[in-house]
Amino acid sequence: MQMSHRAEGHTGQVFRACLAVLMGLLLWACSGGSGGPSVNQTGEHPTGWLNSHWSAYAKNPDQCSSCHGSLTDSAAAGGITKVSCFTCHPNGPGHPEGWASGLQHGRTGAEGVAGEWTGQASCTKCHGSDYAGGIVAVSCTQCHTAAPHPEAPWLSSTPNSHASHNATDVSNAPECWRCHADGARLTTPTAPAPAGIVPGCYNSTMCHGTP
Ligand code: HEC
Ligand code: HEC
Ligand code: HEC
Ligand code: HEC
Ligand code: HEC
Repeated sequence: MQMSHRAEGHTGQVFRACLAVLMGLLLWACSGGSGGPSVNQTGEHPTGWLNSHWSAYAKNPDQCSSCHGSLTDSAAAGGITKVSCFTCHPNGPGHPEGWASGLQHGRTGAEGVAGEWTGQASCTKCHGSDYAGGIVAVSCTQCHTAAPHPEAPWLSSTPNSHASHNATDVSNAPECWRCHADGARLTTPTAPAPAGIVPGCYNSTMCHGTP
């Protein structure tokens, strides 16, 4: 009994191992694309993948679904790997819902405290350090003509309008400073700040001396 059980188990294991290798090779061959294959010949992701998988996904989402199932429907996610994107990204791996709205990608996104899909600097990972498109070829200036935010003065005087830089969390200052150091690109620049001062919203490194 035990012998035959073991033999059966062994055959099963060999079969499953062969199948896994075959699947791996097959999927490896199919997983190429503009971002290149995301797994090696034995079907494994490279080391450090957890910190870089977003980049391969952003370049070519289709190559993930072949092994991980749906990227938009949590019930159909997991695929042959049983590793669902939704385990770590409860709202899914793509941009949050309603993202095209300025209140979403601007107010809660770019203007927020740094996190997943929040903080202006996080956008540069995919949209490029110059916001001109980066690895996803979507430029902020395709909608915002001159800057990665609404046009000057970006200070709406319309009651209840949301388009105003006022809601920007101050932790974003270093990213704003990359374009606005010493008042650059601002209608009313500040006097140049002392050398070595940490960029801030209210210390005369850009626009305001006091809150
Ligand atoms: C050929 C199949 C295959 C493809 C294609 C594939 N994966 Fe995976 N992925 C796996 C397997 C198998 C695992 C579980 C083993 C491991 O962690 O490497 C896994 C695990 C992961 C994990 C969890 C890693 C961890 O350390 O917990 C992430 C994240 C991930 N994949 C992201 C992606 C993304 C993003 C893509 C598309 C760019 C992708 N995968 C494409 C097979 C694949
Ligand atoms: C084991 C947990 C885990 C799984 C499973 C996982 N991710 Fe991630 N994901 C992370 C972590 C951690 C980060 C932050 C990585 C960093 O920036 O260094 C991240 C970041 C991302 C980002 C970038 C978000 C941003 O604001 O910059 C995308 C896009 C993404 N993952 C897509 C996917 C896709 C697609 C899958 C499924 C194929 C997946 N992830 C599965 C843990 C996971
Ligand atoms: C992990 C990569 C990644 C990150 C990080 C990222 N984006 Fe995107 N973004 C994309 C991709 C891919 C598209 C095109 C497909 C889509 O709309 O999802 C896109 C499209 C957009 C669009 C157009 C949406 C539409 O429906 O027309 C806006 C607006 C946008 N991103 C804003 C932002 C902002 C603001 C941030 C930072 C808070 C950001 N993105 C961070 C990958 C990313
Ligand atoms: C990639 C460069 C870039 C980044 C990053 C950037 N800006 Fe700008 N900003 C500009 C440009 C260019 C203009 C002029 C736009 C115009 O003429 O319509 C501008 C104009 C402005 C104005 C209008 C000023 C005036 O005098 O009317 C404000 C306010 C502003 N930016 C705030 C910010 C804040 C806050 C951040 C960070 C969250 C930021 N900017 C990040 C490029 C940038
Ligand atoms: C598909 C068009 C589109 C793209 C692409 C786009 N935006 Fe916007 N964004 C808008 C609209 C529409 C608004 C609402 C305000 C307005 O009309 O100017 C807005 C508003 C904003 C606001 C201001 C929100 C507020 O409350 O004042 C910020 C900040 C912003 N976007 C950042 C970005 C960044 C960063 C990118 C690139 C990563 C980007 N946007 C790409 C359409 C877009």
